[in-house]
Amino acid sequence: MKDKIIKILDNVIDFMSEEQIDEFIEQPPKKELGDYAFPCFRLAKELHKAPQMIANDLVEQIKSSDADISFLDKIEVQGAYVNFFVKKNEYAKTIIEASIDDNYGSSNVGNGKVICIDYSSPNVAKNFHVGHLRTTVIGNSLYKIFTKLGYKVERINHLGDWGTQFGKLIVAYKNWGSEEAVKEKGIEELMRLYVLFHDKADEDENLHEEARAWFHKMETGDEEALKIWKWFYDISLEEFKRVYNLMGIEFDHYTGESFYRDKTAAVVEELESKGLLKDSEGAKIVDLEEYDMAPCLILKNDGSSIYATRDIAAVEYRKKEYNFEKCLYVTGQEQKLHFAQVFKVMELLGNDWAKDNLIHIPYGLVSLSGEKLSSRGGNVIYAEDILKEAINKIKEIINEKNPDLSEEEKENAARIVGVGSVIFNDLYNQRIKDVSFSWQHVTSFEGETGPYVQYTYARCSSILRNFNDFVPTKDIDIEVLTDNASIELLKEISRFNEVISEAADRYEPSVVARYAVDLAQVFNRFYTENRISVPEENIKNARLTLTYITRRILKDSLDLLGIGVVERM
Ligand code: ARG
Repeated sequence: MKDKIIKILDNVIDFMSEEQIDEFIEQPPKKELGDYAFPCFRLAKELHKAPQMIANDLVEQIKSSDADISFLDKIEVQGAYVNFFVKKNEYAKTIIEASIDDNYGSSNVGNGKVICIDYSSPNVAKNFHVGHLRTTVIGNSLYKIFTKLGYKVERINHLGDWGTQFGKLIVAYKNWGSEEAVKEKGIEELMRLYVLFHDKADEDENLHEEARAWFHKMETGDEEALKIWKWFYDISLEEFKRVYNLMGIEFDHYTGESFYRDKTAAVVEELESKGLLKDSEGAKIVDLEEYDMAPCLILKNDGSSIYATRDIAAVEYRKKEYNFEKCLYVTGQEQKLHFAQVFKVMELLGNDWAKDNLIHIPYGLVSLSGEKLSSRGGNVIYAEDILKEAINKIKEIINEKNPDLSEEEKENAARIVGVGSVIFNDLYNQRIKDVSFSWQHVTSFEGETGPYVQYTYARCSSILRNFNDFVPTKDIDIEVLTDNASIELLKEISRFNEVISEAADRYEPSVVARYAVDLAQVFNRFYTENRISVPEENIKNARLTLTYITRRILKDSLDLLGIGVVERM
């Protein structure tokens, strides 16, 4: 409908492109103002006329042009707006025709283009905490969104698996650790050793020297050093994968920092040959003063590479290997400067594309204000524990609400809804905002929550189960869908494409999460106001068709967030 209106306007306004007109068009807040409105304020300058006069002229021109406006009830001027009133049944018909298709929402705008997403990326020998949970779910959702738009997405886990901290860990393990303890407690024990190292090093400076020596051994391929490092790596990855499995998350590449250890020398050489490296107290840096940034450290004074060096090597590798159109980095805001420096260095190396195609996607903190969350020691909170607790809490609720489900069905629903509740809570708020975590809200079946959307999905499924001879078809009697609740539902259904593009343009999964809640709410209103089991076949079929379409869009929306659905809960 909107496209048709754009065409009509484009026909009578010659100094605006279809894209510009598209940007101007609004959906009026009140039904009295029509279905679409075109504001004329910003045309006044170009046309040297009052906006209201422009609006009047446009309507005249449209009416006297040969444009097909048979799908419109009327076109009206109100103030500086041209308001378009779409014929209700025409409107309903186009929406049903588009949305009944299983591929509704998909597009091919990204065909032939690659997007790299660097996300999750926890640190080996450290726990997978709630912050990593955020990058994991945001990255995974962006992967789903871009895939839906036809892009090929490379999912990259840039593990923090290299650096001086491993020298420290080896020293601590050799002095105060044991094989049994590491085997038994995994990351927890590695974290204990790491803290212990710092406590002891406060008294004994030499320990730092020893740690540097061990990292140096790692960098120069010492067998013993690499064997211990690899062991810690395997243990950590096993724990990380437990979290990923629980959430149904996969990666195409586990290429962490260690992957680039033999690729940093070339970076240093390139920087050197292009005259970008400067000495600074024995270290090598790229001076970024001109760009109001602190210098980017490339080599420490002991000659070892660092986080930024490996990130520069990673950009070059990815560009060569995947020829990405864009490379996205999902990390906390505190890494803003780091990425600004890395991107600037890439630009200075002569890569013009670096400016627009390397994109840092920051996010806010998770605030656990007053929440009691299980912690395994100290104040360390493991993502895995949160997910498991959510599953338990949802299990209790399901037990109460739906005691007749089989034990197996309850387990399955608790896992999907429990994990989904945490993911949804994380994605519902704007990415950049801090997320507050409250068990009562997260696991609630009402309000703006994952369980609420999943519950609405299960309700749609249950309705359709009751009418098992119903066959979805676009040839329904549109005339019976003209009540307000049905029209509102159709409007919501019609927004799905826009929602996905907006989420992609802004790298903002919350757009989809909010839409899922809106759609669920509007459906529930529709369902309260319209009985489905009526004697008139045409009415029943039309309402079932809306239920069928809503159910699939709810499922697809949740899927775009990385959340599953269950038929009963
Ligand atoms: N390991 C880092 C952390 O936990 C995140 C890595 C992000 N990706 C990158 N290419 N630097 O903070």
